[in-house]
Amino acid sequence: MKFILSVVIATSSLFAAVSAHAIVKRAPPSGPHWDYSGDKTGPDHWGLLDPAYVTCETGMQQSPVDINAQSLSRFVHCAKKALTFDYEPVKDAVAHFNGHTVEIDWTPNSKTHNNSIAIGKKEYHLIQFHFHTPSEHRINGRHADGELHLVHRNPVDKSLAVIGVLLQAQARNVPFFHYLTALQKKVHADKRDSAVAAAPGTTSAVVDELLKDSVCAGTQPTPQSATKVDYPLKLVDFAPLVRALKGFTPRWEYSGSLTTPPCSENVAWNVMHDPYPIGLDQLRALVDLQGYNARDLEDSRGPAHE
Ligand SMILES: *[C@@H]1O[C@H](CO)[C@@H](O)[C@H](O)[C@H]1NC(C)=O
Ligand SMILES: [Zn+2]
Repeated sequence: MKFILSVVIATSSLFAAVSAHAIVKRAPPSGPHWDYSGDKTGPDHWGLLDPAYVTCETGMQQSPVDINAQSLSRFVHCAKKALTFDYEPVKDAVAHFNGHTVEIDWTPNSKTHNNSIAIGKKEYHLIQFHFHTPSEHRINGRHADGELHLVHRNPVDKSLAVIGVLLQAQARNVPFFHYLTALQKKVHADKRDSAVAAAPGTTSAVVDELLKDSVCAGTQPTPQSATKVDYPLKLVDFAPLVRALKGFTPRWEYSGSLTTPPCSENVAWNVMHDPYPIGLDQLRALVDLQGYNARDLEDSRGPAHE
């Protein structure tokens, strides 16, 4: 790097200016680059990439976790009571790939209804939702085909509560996810670009197949081209999802972390017991856009000492 820089400065100031511009343009928008498979930037290295990410390495309550007899006897609780929630359709949202996940978000204003959940007496507002393929949480070691994360934040102390919904592929497309194939089409129409992304092995046979399909056909858009495309959504109606999940009952609760850098802890996790369906084409659209984006299981809590 030092060598290149001195050559550039010595050669010509015009070349130096052009080169500096290119470097600035390629810089990631915020924080150091991280991903799901890189030798130096994958999940095992997140905590070393930046002091702000150190919790990814040192945290003692990291997510995701496996839900099994052992974790259930130690820190995961099975909740059977309905979660208090107040959801209305969200207006003027946008679906986009942010470089790590397909996310749906919106800009609240003073007239926007705050979709909220209450855990005990604590209230959290829904701020965005996004997807992982395959699922991050596992049940008895098994991934689901995908996982939907509804991210909520407490307006006062900014702590987070996330509702995780395991997604199970089916042949028929599901109305709630109609924007996924629409976003995929828009990304491909915008730029016919292809790149092959390496993917760690997964145990969701469906996602494994889709990863192979998309990589072999060379249809996966580059992350850079995909992040530039927004698909506007006039209305997001959560009613069918909430109804299928019986008002967010039954579910598993535990205290964990963000599953992406900075891996902050004190996240109130609520993983739904019942999976929700997703159409195979919709899952294919997700895999095409975001590839493999599930963090490995975290065993930071270690074995039981009792
Ligand atoms: C939504 O919550 C924010 C605080 O996060 C508050 O400022 C705003 O007034 C609330 N909106 C409504 C319509 O209650
Ligand atoms: Zn997530």
